Amino acid sequence: MIPVFYQKNSEFLSCRGKFGIRMRPYVVVNVAMSADGKLSTHERRQVKISGSEDFARVDRLKAGCDAVMVGIGTVLADDPSLTVKSIENRKSRLSRSTSLHPVRIVVDSHARTPPGAKILHKEEGKRIIAVAKRADRERVAELRKHATVIIAGDETVDLPAMMEELGGMGIQRIMVEGGGTLIAGLVAAGLVDEITTFIGNIIIGGKDAPTLADGPGFTSESEFPRLTLIEAQKMERGVLLHWKIETPA
Ligand SMILES: NC(=O)c1ccc[n+]([C@@H]2O[C@H](COP(=O)([O-])OP(=O)(O)OC[C@H]3O[C@@H](n4cnc5c(N)ncnc54)[C@H](OP(=O)(O)O)[C@@H]3O)[C@@H](O)[C@H]2O)c1
Repeated sequence: MIPVFYQKNSEFLSCRGKFGIRMRPYVVVNVAMSADGKLSTHERRQVKISGSEDFARVDRLKAGCDAVMVGIGTVLADDPSLTVKSIENRKSRLSRSTSLHPVRIVVDSHARTPPGAKILHKEEGKRIIAVAKRADRERVAELRKHATVIIAGDETVDLPAMMEELGGMGIQRIMVEGGGTLIAGLVAAGLVDEITTFIGNIIIGGKDAPTLADGPGFTSESEFPRLTLIEAQKMERGVLLHWKIETPA
């Protein structure tokens, strides 16, 4: 028997596993990459890959989610605020009685988020920092002044445990903005449902430049996550691809 709370949200329902309801949010990854699959330069400098049409699409996607998540690598490299930008999208959130901005989440095992990071200060709204047990207590105490801290895992953040906890907090739909290390970890743990990539008309190059899924990688055909293409759309001077991750049988 599925509780009414979950029946109302079909996407949350679609997260049901073989053995019943998985109490984890529905996860949508969204990134912009170059034609050669890079998310930024090898020095991890942010690059403008898409234009205003794609920015507007991403802002709508973000506004439709309960939370937006990044890894600590992205916070240190880009210092993003992760707020909803357009007035229309903000109004639409308020009309649905949700907060102005989605909950902003950083996956940060060692509590390295700088206390002055934009994500902690720009505009109102809830912030969550997921840390591991080994995180320095003083840093954690500092972050608690600005954010809710959840502890999952010993050395590094245990992503499935973190997702369960976020689900328990009522977060049903998360947009993951990157970067490649966090996305790889989420994909490897079977925690991603959809991937949207805007592929722009530039080549960034560099064997050490971040890609959609970094981390250790998969080694055998049986391990490779399989995707179903939902849509391919020409956009601006690139292409927008929308994938769904196939659930293993
Ligand atoms: N083009 C785009 O759309 C886009 C979007 C976002 C980012 N980016 C680019 O991506 C780059 C940053 O990517 P990144 O790969 O360096 O960093 P990242 O994916 O943002 O963060 C990775 C970090 O997350 C932490 N983490 C904690 N638990 C983890 C787990 N279980 N699995 C994986 N990661 C875990 C790890 O640090 P700890 O061990 O310290 O916790 C890890 O190093 C930047 O250059 C940024 O500009 C591009």
